[in-house]
Amino acid sequence: MPLPRTRRKPRPSSAPNALWGGRFSSGPAAVMEAINASIGVDRRLYAQDIRASLAHCSMLVAKGIVSQSDGAAIARGLKRIEGEFAAGKIRIDPALEDIHMHVEARLKDLIGAPAGRLHTARSRNDQVATDFRLWVRDAIDRLDRGLAAWQSVLLVQAERHAATAMPGFTHLQPAQPITFGHHLLAYVEMAERDRGRLNDARKRVDECPLGAGALAGTSFPIDRAMTARALGFARPMGNSLDAVSARDFALEYLAALAIAASHLSRLAEELVIWSSPAFGLVRLSDAWTSGSSIMPQKRNPDAAELVRAKSGRIAGAFQGLLTVMKGLPLAYGKDMQEDKEPVFDATDTIELCLAAMTGMVADLEADTARMAAAAGGGYSTATDLADWMVQRLKMPFRDAHHRAGQLVAAAERKGVGLAELTLSDMQSVEPRITRDVFRVLAVKDAIASRMSLGGTAPKRVRAEIARWKRRLKTRARS
Ligand code: ARG
Repeated sequence: MPLPRTRRKPRPSSAPNALWGGRFSSGPAAVMEAINASIGVDRRLYAQDIRASLAHCSMLVAKGIVSQSDGAAIARGLKRIEGEFAAGKIRIDPALEDIHMHVEARLKDLIGAPAGRLHTARSRNDQVATDFRLWVRDAIDRLDRGLAAWQSVLLVQAERHAATAMPGFTHLQPAQPITFGHHLLAYVEMAERDRGRLNDARKRVDECPLGAGALAGTSFPIDRAMTARALGFARPMGNSLDAVSARDFALEYLAALAIAASHLSRLAEELVIWSSPAFGLVRLSDAWTSGSSIMPQKRNPDAAELVRAKSGRIAGAFQGLLTVMKGLPLAYGKDMQEDKEPVFDATDTIELCLAAMTGMVADLEADTARMAAAAGGGYSTATDLADWMVQRLKMPFRDAHHRAGQLVAAAERKGVGLAELTLSDMQSVEPRITRDVFRVLAVKDAIASRMSLGGTAPKRVRAEIARWKRRLKTRARS
């Protein structure tokens, strides 16, 4: 196929554009500054940046790369800058791009020429990777404490409601009666796995990139083990290219956050449903609900809805950074500067969600009467009826299931619950049924019978609560 012919000749690229060339020559610089500066975000790394610089400086002195007196001046200056940052006294200037350049520029103001020696044998690439790992490691430790507090609040309510009957759902249809305490313990388990994921990620965060230089290492006789130790890292990273370009530690952290947020979101969704008057199973306190500007009766579960929504934002942070990283050639690329915003935002967001859920559940009130009534609704003990026929009449489960189904249909026709059927109603479906069957049809009995490991019987639930309490206590001590 012949190529389409262009009618006009392309303009020579070297010729300046007569219309807007002059005006634009200064325009892009301002935009460049806007797109290039990260100080608005990475100023949050100031404490980590200074800490890492102090460690680097001591090592340079110890190895004779920087003199004692210059090292002392640098260290004094850095400590002063940390105070200035903490007090909000540092002037932010987008022309200085990022936190590293702000610290260095201020150091130069304070101590003059020796400031220029701090950047010996390092680059902003290993510097930022180090700062960021220090930040994420602290965040993991904070979140671990937050999740432990969350577990404790769940346990308090679980203990209060170890024997409180509620409907257990599948497909959001009444399935089998359970206890509210058992339901809450499910979230204690999830939080435990969230802690496990974070602490597992922590092991891989806990390696020190400092000293990798821009990408290839350095010719100075540095001691990387020394800086790693000073910063509390388990070890220096083994490959300089990997050290400056790896961000899987941040991805792993965000993935763990996204999963943890999804757990909070599931309970938030349940709170929204349960607190709706149509369900009326729980009442959220005034502190966690809001009214309507038009409908005076409303108590909206806004906090729970927002926890549900914000889990999307946290999952988005993970997806966003994964997309930034995928396909980046080694080693550092400026793309990676986009790593901090999602991590900071997801961290702030999950901390807020955790605090909100902890507060909401702490003063949650269960309507135990409605829960009990709902627990028995929807023929929720039909499985117990089938199980009785298996155990007492030695019927195969499939046949018992069929018979129990016919009994549910009979009850439905009569407009009563299973326990309200008469013995002769029962026997017309299965003649071998005896009065003994009524022992298993009550919600309380159905719940108490589920003594299998991990089951909902109050006795089991109480034992689990005791186990969790011991476990949280020993963990807190270690
Ligand atoms: N602000 C940069 C970042 O966060 C620091 C590293 C800059 N390195 C560079 N080669 N330009 O990624």
